[in-house]
Amino acid sequence: MAVAERAKSFTTSFGDNIDIIPGYQKMFWPQIRSFQLLADGLKREDIDLVLGTGAEIKPTEREMFCSFRSYAIRWYRVYMMLEMFLQAGIDKPFDTCLDIGTGQGVQPRMLRAMGMVKHAAGIDLYDRATMFNEKSMAKAYKKLKWWKHIDKIQSYVERGGLSFIPADIRQAFLRHFENPRKLGGRYSGLMPHMDYYDLKIKHPYKLDKLYVQDFYDLDEQFDLVTSYTALEHFELERAIPKIADSLKPGGVAYLWIPYWWCPFNTTYLVGDMPWMAQRLTRDDFVRYVKEFHPQDAENITYVYDYFDPSHPTMNTYIDLAEKSGLSLLGSRRAMLPGEMNSQQLLTTVGHTHFSNVNLQEILSQIHRFRPDVQLEDLYTQSIMLLLQKTPRKEELNQQSMDAMHDKHLAKYRPKGAFMKKVRQKVLDFYVG
Ligand SMILES: C[S@@+](CC[C@H](N)C(=O)[O-])C[C@H]1O[C@@H](n2cnc3c(N)ncnc32)[C@H](O)[C@@H]1O
Repeated sequence: MAVAERAKSFTTSFGDNIDIIPGYQKMFWPQIRSFQLLADGLKREDIDLVLGTGAEIKPTEREMFCSFRSYAIRWYRVYMMLEMFLQAGIDKPFDTCLDIGTGQGVQPRMLRAMGMVKHAAGIDLYDRATMFNEKSMAKAYKKLKWWKHIDKIQSYVERGGLSFIPADIRQAFLRHFENPRKLGGRYSGLMPHMDYYDLKIKHPYKLDKLYVQDFYDLDEQFDLVTSYTALEHFELERAIPKIADSLKPGGVAYLWIPYWWCPFNTTYLVGDMPWMAQRLTRDDFVRYVKEFHPQDAENITYVYDYFDPSHPTMNTYIDLAEKSGLSLLGSRRAMLPGEMNSQQLLTTVGHTHFSNVNLQEILSQIHRFRPDVQLEDLYTQSIMLLLQKTPRKEELNQQSMDAMHDKHLAKYRPKGAFMKKVRQKVLDFYVG
């Protein structure tokens, strides 16, 4: 009899007994059933090299196409970023932009094509971007524009429209044709508005520069630094100060970071009970894996270690950003509202439906070694941070406040004689 079938619970080093839910792991998405596959998948993407181990890879000889799904998800991430810019009052294009861990460089290409940045650069340890087929992005864009019409009809049907059509056919229309806007929302948790379809492409999808090197070794500064689903492979303690160094004074960073503490993350690790990886220390996790999955232990540990080992929370990032001279302009948590995400994995909301899953108990087990983690962290799928480099200049006193006022329109003091007169006239008119 296999070890896993005998044992019904796992005892942590703190003495907590965590009950195994029979068949839990097998209920999920087929890819997760094989840790061998998962680990191989990561290795094929050379993620093992990310933290500095393994052999060198060569760029693929094959031209890389952008599938519609891949385009739609990235369009969604860019849309979310522009929405945060808008909320923070950022509406001017940036001169230079660097995308960290850029992969194929899809997002910086989009930003350039939209006219949000004039010069788009990406950095990655591996060249996955020079073979990229830009035409496939143009094709996907055309398709996206068509989807707007279908989405409108679908929204109408959802609100009860076209009721003369049999309900089954209406359901099939909604389920079979998942529109890209909803795909984005279900994938990451924040549903975009209809203006998702209205962003316009005005320029070619060009990546002006690709740095094939370690980000930590780059010695240049940019007006905008972005990163989309890459920083979870970096070590936060090094990455955030380096991002601050890579920004020009006043420059802005937008970071979209997948989160460790949700029931599944970009490692797709699913054990024999929910939050298995999250509620055990690494030592306990390795012991658990050896006890329950001895044949897969190596692959599982490999996948586990692929995530930033400090397992940061939103506050960890914000704290370190502030210490590195980056002010917070905005933050968002993406939480999945439905029971399942777009890959058929149970979300936190989905887990709360079951009587044998107790979020408070899971949190108290996590608190044994990570007291900073909060309930909302268990719901958080990814976080978005908007930061600005604000170098410290002088002390706070009347003089520095006057200088600050002078910079802003409220205390506009023109230098030229003509504008001085205009200002006086305006003041006389309003103030008397
Ligand atoms: C999950 S992929 C990011 C995908 C990409 N941002 C996108 O949206 O398609 C993470 C990338 O980070 C890169 N990476 C990891 N560590 C790096 C480092 N120190 N310097 C540069 N790139 C790095 C990896 O090579 C990998 O391509």
